[in-house]
Amino acid sequence: MTQAYEIIDHEFDVVVVGAGGAGLRAGFGCAEKGLSTAIISKVFPTRSHTVAAQGGISAALGNMGEDDWRFHFYDTIKGSDWLGDQDAIEYMCKEAIPAVVELEHYGVPFSRTAEGKIYQRAFGGMTTHYGKGTAQRTCAAADRTGHAMLHTLYTQALKHNAEFFIEYFAIDLIMSDDGECLGVMAWNLDDGTLHRFRGHETILATGGYGRAYFSCTSAHTCTGDGGGMVLRAGLPLQDMEFTQFHPTGIYGAGCLITEGVRGEGGYLTNSEGERFMERYAPSAKDLASRDVVSRSMTVEINEGRGVGEKKDHIHLHLEHLDSDIIHERLPGIAESARIFAGVDVTKEPIPVLPTVHYNMGGIPTNFMTEALNPTKKDPNKIVPGLMAIGEAACVSVHGANRLGSNSLLDLVVFGRAAANRCAEVVKPGAPHKPAGGDNGTKAVERLDHFRTSKGRTSTAKLRDDMQHVMQNHAPVFRTGKTLSKGVKEIDKVYKVRDDLVVSDRSMIFNTDLVETLELDNLLPQAVASMHAADNREESRGAHAREDFPDRDDEKWMKHTLIWCNDKGKTKIDYRPVTLTTLTDEVEAVPPKARVY
Ligand code: FUM
Repeated sequence: MTQAYEIIDHEFDVVVVGAGGAGLRAGFGCAEKGLSTAIISKVFPTRSHTVAAQGGISAALGNMGEDDWRFHFYDTIKGSDWLGDQDAIEYMCKEAIPAVVELEHYGVPFSRTAEGKIYQRAFGGMTTHYGKGTAQRTCAAADRTGHAMLHTLYTQALKHNAEFFIEYFAIDLIMSDDGECLGVMAWNLDDGTLHRFRGHETILATGGYGRAYFSCTSAHTCTGDGGGMVLRAGLPLQDMEFTQFHPTGIYGAGCLITEGVRGEGGYLTNSEGERFMERYAPSAKDLASRDVVSRSMTVEINEGRGVGEKKDHIHLHLEHLDSDIIHERLPGIAESARIFAGVDVTKEPIPVLPTVHYNMGGIPTNFMTEALNPTKKDPNKIVPGLMAIGEAACVSVHGANRLGSNSLLDLVVFGRAAANRCAEVVKPGAPHKPAGGDNGTKAVERLDHFRTSKGRTSTAKLRDDMQHVMQNHAPVFRTGKTLSKGVKEIDKVYKVRDDLVVSDRSMIFNTDLVETLELDNLLPQAVASMHAADNREESRGAHAREDFPDRDDEKWMKHTLIWCNDKGKTKIDYRPVTLTTLTDEVEAVPPKARVY
């Protein structure tokens, strides 16, 4: 190491990394239970990506017609293409109802029905009576639900005195020699100091790694920092081949146009003006699950029925909707369409294209949010001291394809579950174990390595290369040929990591160094995604292989575990999918053909 860094020590009962919906819910939940709690965030909490969630949060409240959490349970399993763990799905769908009522009591300004109940809209794949009717299950605050929730959760965290460390970048986990997580190392971007946070539990709530791709709805900050830390700690990630493409990103800009548009009566057309979803999903049509709609749009484009000069996108119509509905329930997307596509949605369709939106894969956990380090003997072996929630985690409630509005739900249900688990296993104020492992020195060495590196490749250039390889070789439809080329290309990109150069050597608000550390989190996850996609020889949910068009339950109904070391070398193994429920309140759903 070329420079001696001073390290400032902190001790908390619980350390939460990330201050989006999941991190805030877990953080104030721990504080509320009397645990001293640090919440570390690289951005101001209300700038976390949860703010961008639009359409809503699912819960079978039944405010707009009959509903039952068991219908929600069934829909989520079917949506997951039977890769979701049914015990965790049962927990989430049942807990959804009290979780949303709790949000209402915290002050989330939900839209209202005429009787004053929480307004609920239809979303893709959400049905009543196990596939027979259409459920209106997605609780909405106009089309700014994430914004409303994030601000409310932040005020709860302030109220319960969780201690914030804002614009601190988490560098790496501190692991003991016997595999226990002892806390996390972080860099204060504002004054350049380094910090060692000890926690009896460290909760990773760091979001997804959407920025591994070129065109995504994710913010620039969605760099999967927790996943990067976990891989560097020698632990596996799960189901990394499953990347969700949201059907309606604005063509060219990638910004999200909520599925709520179709929930309010919007529809898609091709160059012939045809509502083509009627052919692909005769019953659910435009409200089939996202993987189905994204694939259908891609087929239309590939067969020459795309719209526009290059026939390379699709039209989303809402000009037939009453303008009161647009102004009351969809004001945000009307503004986005005007700014990013130059479209007045009351008069013209929005040009849209399937766009990377969500990572179903992530840090494997059980439904209590404890991180797992599965072995052959014990597929549910936990990593002591480590938890993961939100998009960073793979519980797995979304399996191979997440249903829209189950993501905001996942944040609050499992954020709360993490706080409950911490209250069970952590004694407030218990002394910390003596320092273990490298006690954070390797994290500092890695930061110093990048800060002082003498390579020739800029972070922006390598990130661009990675994003294009992912975009071109792991798109909506994959084949063995494109994926094996993708594996070679992404491995080549990974090697250039050794040649990175940072333009600024300062420790104070050095954004180039931040982006380099972020890239160093993205790169192994891009490698893991591509290798896992090449490895899975079937089509399931969002992983659509043209060379293996069918789901193959006999061979592939299992979670992929993937490790990636610092040389970019991967190892793959598997763990079983849980096909049983937690209680006898609902029956497990055996696999069957998935038709919408
Ligand atoms: O379309 C949307 O509003 C996105 C929601 C989600 O991803 O859950």
